[in-house]
Amino acid sequence: MRMVDVIDTKRNGGELTTEQIEFFINGYTKGDIPDYQVSALLMAIYLKGMTKQETATMTMTMLHSGDQLDLSDIHGVKVDKHSTGGVGDKTSIPLAPLVASVGIPVPMISGRGLGHTGGTLDKLEAIPGLKVEISEASFKQQLRDVGCAIVGATGNIAPADKKIYALRDVTDTVDSIPLIAGSIMSKKIASGTDALVLDVKTGSGAFMKTEADSVALAKELVGIGKSVGMNAMAVISDMNQPLGNAIGNALEIEESIALLKGNGPADLLDLVLTIGSQMVVMANKATDLDAARKMLQQHIDDGSALTKFKEMIIAQGGDGRVIENPAMMPQATYQMPILAARDGVITKMKADEMGIAAMMLGGGRQKKDDQLDYAVGLTLSKKVGDEVHQGDTILTIHSNREDVSDVQQLIEANIAIGDEAQPLTLIHEVVD
Ligand code: URA
Repeated sequence: MRMVDVIDTKRNGGELTTEQIEFFINGYTKGDIPDYQVSALLMAIYLKGMTKQETATMTMTMLHSGDQLDLSDIHGVKVDKHSTGGVGDKTSIPLAPLVASVGIPVPMISGRGLGHTGGTLDKLEAIPGLKVEISEASFKQQLRDVGCAIVGATGNIAPADKKIYALRDVTDTVDSIPLIAGSIMSKKIASGTDALVLDVKTGSGAFMKTEADSVALAKELVGIGKSVGMNAMAVISDMNQPLGNAIGNALEIEESIALLKGNGPADLLDLVLTIGSQMVVMANKATDLDAARKMLQQHIDDGSALTKFKEMIIAQGGDGRVIENPAMMPQATYQMPILAARDGVITKMKADEMGIAAMMLGGGRQKKDDQLDYAVGLTLSKKVGDEVHQGDTILTIHSNREDVSDVQQLIEANIAIGDEAQPLTLIHEVVD
């Protein structure tokens, strides 16, 4: 079989056979097929799409490109959560210890930043010493000892995804339903979780910009999960403006700590409790969502979720003192406020452009091998719907370079002040 013929089939809108899919996934994973041919095929898939059958076959082939974790010897219903990616989306970081604090094992396999979106692993690495690449044995031991772990795909989990994910990031082929479905579900099935809540983002800062596409992606993800016996469901949540008030690696860890201390922004807390309640019910620790939500709120109020986060940080080699002193993470040298030009109400704060602004400061990767600056990013003082007076700080740029006029221009072009704002709904719908 020749790779050029596989590309040709898809370029002309044809359906790939199982043999063709196995040929390109396995060949690329082994290093037999070069980046440029896989890039061309990814673009053809992006433009022509895939049938449900092709997506399912690709997911299973990616899954079988590596090992599968066996978590059957860990007591209890294991529940994971995965987001399709957003701006300021640090939900997983407070969520994993919060859910683990009620006695549910949370084996979380997360990713790095992709496109304009941040990555949970990159954010965690802002904590001095913390490791996200740990062995399977340590991962399982941590699940037994602490109850949660947030790690990269350990060892040989879905190696096909690792390579394809990095290539998609730099070939502008991220926002494709079959490619996202294959990427997420191959890792999630391989990670051995019993149940999974998917947070499918929708809006300007999401890979899926429309509600219809987000629901289609959610159905694809949930369908693949159920087909292998996983208890899967999805929450469609808003990404038209950034989530929470912090964008940037260390800044988002600081906000996660604040949330577990009871001082988190309302939208982030609402999403954490919404997804967390679904996880608690799936693990049979509560009979309904209201009871689950109360239980989780109680674990924030009594400090047990925060203690769990500290235990997780220490178990992964991180400095647990960050909980008391977040300023021990890298801090930016320059702080520059963006001020309101007039009185009114914030009507727009485009999430994708705020993500790009954070990336331009060095908080995200523009190329595959870029080193991140953990200190930089944005902190928002106002969000859509908030009233402002001329001269009020809307947000602050945290930078390690003095001249941020390029970033300032981009931000100012993507924030609007008007007389009346359309309120944004955080939770759009649930797909199960
Ligand atoms: N998260 C993933 O793991 N993969 C994608 O393709 C998008 C978000």
